[in-house]
Amino acid sequence: MSNPPIHAPVKEKEDTVLDLTLRPQKWDEYIGQEHVKKNLNILLRAAKGRNEPVEHILLSGPAGLGKTTMAHLIGREMNTNVRVTSGPAIERVGDLASILTNLLAGDILFIDEIHRLNKLVEEVLYPAMEARTLDIIIGKGPSARTLQIELPPFTLIAATTRPGLLSSPLRSRFGMTFRLDFYALDDIQKIIMRSARILGVGMDEDAYAILARSSRFTPRVANRLLKRMRDYAQVHGNGKITKDVAASTLALLEIDEKGLEQMDRRILEIIVQKFGGGPVGLQTLAAASFEEGDSIEEVYEPYLMQLGFLERTSRGRVATPQAYRHLGIKIPSQAPLLS
Ligand code: ADE
Repeated sequence: MSNPPIHAPVKEKEDTVLDLTLRPQKWDEYIGQEHVKKNLNILLRAAKGRNEPVEHILLSGPAGLGKTTMAHLIGREMNTNVRVTSGPAIERVGDLASILTNLLAGDILFIDEIHRLNKLVEEVLYPAMEARTLDIIIGKGPSARTLQIELPPFTLIAATTRPGLLSSPLRSRFGMTFRLDFYALDDIQKIIMRSARILGVGMDEDAYAILARSSRFTPRVANRLLKRMRDYAQVHGNGKITKDVAASTLALLEIDEKGLEQMDRRILEIIVQKFGGGPVGLQTLAAASFEEGDSIEEVYEPYLMQLGFLERTSRGRVATPQAYRHLGIKIPSQAPLLS
């Protein structure tokens, strides 16, 4: 029996149930990320052979690519509990102390969004990761004492969308770091086929292709759009996701054939129309688009860069000629600076 999550993120009930249903339960159901799976396979088999917990693992990469799923599969492979929490949920040193002292030998502690852990909490994590000790300072001033508690052997699996924000002492305490990349289009299509089978919804060949192309090479997006197409087919059709159902659902959601949402297009249009194609600094872009700089960096930019629509330069963000073409805006004769 696995323990319940410590700080489960609050989510819509229908989506939570469906996400769990669609989440791969075994490694051979996990499509894509072959390079990561191969390396993990050796790491896990070696640790199992020595009857030791796996070394601490850092998983990085854009949101929705399966970092949490991977942590659960590692737990399953090692036959251990996975305790789930996140950087922002661990507000105080006491929160982390309580999580760590409740771990059982061999447990996996999964910390999502580790880059959002506060500095004081992070410093308590160092000796816990390195020497399995919890060092807590009690009292203040000259009478302050350090209390040292021995922790059971455990594995920390941390996930981040922003590996560059991790301090080097934290980064250096992971035995392995893996980067998850956007999925190949045919892997996304396989994931959609698997999910449609699980949901018991019929789909045309053309509809698979339309959905795959608009999924931002991201399984979470693919599964979410699949559910919206299933709703549309149920309400406006006979339940089957046809090419027309797929296209009409995307049009209703204002998602274009490349998977760009309104905000993606707005970001590109602002760079092109207000800043002559760039370069424009992140904070200026955030102010002009009424969007948080963090969201631009974590949610929108990675995909726009993957499509080759946006480049980050030392002087700011620049829209590429492909972005102009996609927006249907004429490329000015003075090409934007790409340095
Ligand atoms: N659902 C979400 N991610 C998946 C993956 N990588 N493989 C199969 N199904 C998935």
